[in-house]
Amino acid sequence: MCGIVGYVGPQSALDVVTAGLKRLEYRGYDSAGVAVQADGGLATAKRAGKLVNLEKELGERPLPAGTTAIGHTRWATHGAPTDANAHPHLDNAGRVAVVHNGIIENFAALREELTERGHALTSETDTEVVAHLLAEEYSACADLAEAMRLVCRRLEGAFTLVAVHADEPDVVVGARRNSPLVVGVGAGESFLASDVAAFIAHTREAIELGQDQVVELRRDAVTVTDFDGAPADVREYHVDWDASAAEKGGYDYFMLKEIAEQPKAVADTLLGRVDGSGSLTLDEVRIPANVLREVDKVVIVACGTAFHAGLIAKYAIEHWTRVPCEVELASEFRYRDPILDQQTLVVAISQSGETMDTLMALRHAREQGAKVLAICNTNGSTIPRESDAVLYTHAGPEVAVASTKAFLTQLVACYLVALYLGQVRGTKYADEIRAVVRDLGSISGAVERVLETMEPVRELARSLAEKNTVLFLGRHVGYPVALEGALKLKELAYMHAEGFAAGELKHGPIALIEDDLPVVVVVPSPRGRSVLHDKIVSNIQEIRARGARTIVVAEEGDDAVVPYADHLIRVPVTPTLLQPLVATVPLQVFACELATARGNEVDQPRNLAKSVTVE
Ligand code: F6R
Repeated sequence: MCGIVGYVGPQSALDVVTAGLKRLEYRGYDSAGVAVQADGGLATAKRAGKLVNLEKELGERPLPAGTTAIGHTRWATHGAPTDANAHPHLDNAGRVAVVHNGIIENFAALREELTERGHALTSETDTEVVAHLLAEEYSACADLAEAMRLVCRRLEGAFTLVAVHADEPDVVVGARRNSPLVVGVGAGESFLASDVAAFIAHTREAIELGQDQVVELRRDAVTVTDFDGAPADVREYHVDWDASAAEKGGYDYFMLKEIAEQPKAVADTLLGRVDGSGSLTLDEVRIPANVLREVDKVVIVACGTAFHAGLIAKYAIEHWTRVPCEVELASEFRYRDPILDQQTLVVAISQSGETMDTLMALRHAREQGAKVLAICNTNGSTIPRESDAVLYTHAGPEVAVASTKAFLTQLVACYLVALYLGQVRGTKYADEIRAVVRDLGSISGAVERVLETMEPVRELARSLAEKNTVLFLGRHVGYPVALEGALKLKELAYMHAEGFAAGELKHGPIALIEDDLPVVVVVPSPRGRSVLHDKIVSNIQEIRARGARTIVVAEEGDDAVVPYADHLIRVPVTPTLLQPLVATVPLQVFACELATARGNEVDQPRNLAKSVTVE
């Protein structure tokens, strides 16, 4: 949700900042802008729409060269995505420029106050007040970092801010509350960004900023304080992936690359955590075994795709541990006064680690005394920082807005948590747990095999480009897979898509079935739970009898579905609970191809942003 970049060093600051914005465009693409210190003043350019519009503007009307600059790519909250509302925002004298990610909740009162003091505010944004407040404070203290601290103490809400002042050459100042901000430390140059991807081409040495901290960046110095000016503790770390991981690597879209990376992502997430004898080592789960043994309820909070991972985790946790598990949309959680105590384990699942709904849910849970375990893909992000423990997924950077490899690795992490809880607590399923831990080792190869057989799925997707609706059905763990298939199609193909529990169909949704309506059915394994399998085969017959075009996702060797499948998508045989790891992949490919066939932007679907840092 908005990407921000700052740079100070010997290079052309505009080149560094615009390249950084390109890497952050997944965070929002409603408008983009830059400000550069040059000729004793500030020069700015900003344009509504994608970064390419700003690049065109900079091509036609180049800004003077400079070595200190800031930039912004916006996901609009306050004010329409116009040129005027694009960041950076400046004070009336044009001496200070600021970019912002988040929402300043008391901006209306501040705006009124500033107007009374004679300031002329020209945009509809909440951000502009900060530029004016910084200008006022700076005129009294002549120190941008101090001015930032004074202003931050007056702001309410979530804000990551980055600013430059014309009178402080070679200085960039940032502030962080609730939204992410990372420092990159180079040789004689310093970077500031919402995500390390913005500067990974220049340095892999990073500093994680904490909550309510202000950073002053110079070429050779990084100074961090709290909002009162006291020196702050920070965590330095080395980024364990390089620039190539954040590039398309020959694929047309990041999403295609990320789908293809899933076998490796799954294997990386298992690495060092499972052993061939069937036991798990999860040293990162710093919650002591005796505390885990006392847990009497697991509550999973997450949003969107991560929520679907949570729904699947419930089946695994309840089966292997016999501990009740609730799964809740993080955005609903804290508003219904949930029952939590010291014996509740809350699992917060988030790729970005910055989703505000999930963060607020986990804060609420901790206030009630619950222990929180985060499952997260982004090192050092806010959600793991504020949790009691974290199990990182090792999907690598996920750039496409629609989540694919992060989802699969979230599933793997959820299974690990479920199996680990079972292992620690000891359940009657000990043998099954050991067998599944061993089976996990073959999942990466199974995902690889699915990917090798996707051409017919792509062909089918292209043939459905003119359809208006696709329905998805599943039972047991196939039900959340159906929900995920529908979500992918909605966000990428902009089609009406809905997922249903197949058994629910006859309670209403079956009325939607009409001639040639595509219905994707995720079929559980015929082994083990054959009753479930028989039931879904009946459901397929019911919809086919009413004219549906059935697209059946079924295990290799499941012949019972063949007579009723207009299109058959085969997935490798897996233990029942692990089937989502293979069954989801064709649905990702299906949505991606349908979006392409409909001429949609695959990596940047309309109205969306990758990291949702507002509630
Ligand atoms: C859909 C998608 C979103 C995210 C959701 C949570 O493809 O990516 O639904 O899953 O916004 O994001 P994280 O996992 O970053 O908390």
